[in-house]
Amino acid sequence: MKKRILVTGGTGFIGSHTTVELQQAGYDVVIVDNLSNSNADVVDGIEAITGIRPIFEKVDCTDMPALRGVFEKYEGIQGIIHFAASKAVGESVQKPLDYYFNNTVSTINLLRLMPEFGVKGFIFSSSCTVYGQPDPENLPVTENAPRKKAESPYGNTKKIDEDIITDFCNSGAPVNAILLRYFNPIGAHPSALIGELPNGVPNNLIPYITQTAMGIRECLSVFGNDYDTPDGSCIRDFIYVVDLAKAHVAAMERILEGKNEERVEVFNVGTGKGVSVLELINTFEKCTGVKLNYKITGRRMGDIEKVWGNVDKANNVLGWRAVHSLEDSLSSAWKWQQRLRERGVM
Ligand code: UD1
Repeated sequence: MKKRILVTGGTGFIGSHTTVELQQAGYDVVIVDNLSNSNADVVDGIEAITGIRPIFEKVDCTDMPALRGVFEKYEGIQGIIHFAASKAVGESVQKPLDYYFNNTVSTINLLRLMPEFGVKGFIFSSSCTVYGQPDPENLPVTENAPRKKAESPYGNTKKIDEDIITDFCNSGAPVNAILLRYFNPIGAHPSALIGELPNGVPNNLIPYITQTAMGIRECLSVFGNDYDTPDGSCIRDFIYVVDLAKAHVAAMERILEGKNEERVEVFNVGTGKGVSVLELINTFEKCTGVKLNYKITGRRMGDIEKVWGNVDKANNVLGWRAVHSLEDSLSSAWKWQQRLRERGVM
């Protein structure tokens, strides 16, 4: 019998790619998503890729009765991958209570239901944002680097959720967890049947780049070229979303097979390589042949100057590694944007 996994936020960007990889690895997936930042059509895209239609329930994880109903209806859920969360840094500053409520109550509700329904494994979608700006001697940053004061309510919810999960697992609850700290996920499935589709004007770099290349946005603003980096622009660790999705499959296998060495394990999920915003723009132009209209503007409030990950632990302990190049990732993002145009989406 296939092992059944609950994927919250499964119609979102990372959740949809992870659902595909889980299905291809032989898992049965139940998606719950409130569709606040995604569309139910994504389920069609997942089915077109894998030939399997995942179960989908439009449920908000802060709604405890509805969430309990999912566990009652779909028996035998063995693991949860929890993506469902609000993630816009700027918006979180404007609406802190919405962020604290949504991101912590969802997590607490899921954890509460786990012992009751015999669910053993929890994989949490965390972020390198918990490291803030690492001290220079801590770059590339390892899992042992201190977590710093969060720059935004969004970042703080990731720290608080990490603590809630850790405290719960250490309380003797029959639950094990893996916290995956992602660096910057980019790209789209090679089929271009699923990808990143933010509502409205994108906050994140890659959708802004592909929409500018498509002529939907006039000009990309590069937020600052006076940072203490070789070319003055910020440095990030850009990880291909399909590689990132596979890290979740590896983490779920580890927990369900009882291979975890601690009740709560933490892994950085990145490439281990830092790339500047200007280098990324150059690579995009080279691998797509499209000239990008961009200008340098002032710094964006709250941006980290430079961060990239030490991913030895994920490579050696989890047995996972990022294999795709930046060129592959950017080409896939561009193919996805072109497909959206063909479909008349944007
Ligand atoms: C941040 C968080 C990440 C979180 C994500 C959610 C950090 C280090 N990262 O990512 O954990 O999951 O928000 O949204 O805290 N840029 C431009 N022009 C643009 C857009 C972005 O120059 O129009 C630059 C930014 O200044 C930054 C880089 O591109 O240097 C990446 O920005 P973005 O894609 O928004 O991601 P982060 O802010 O790194």
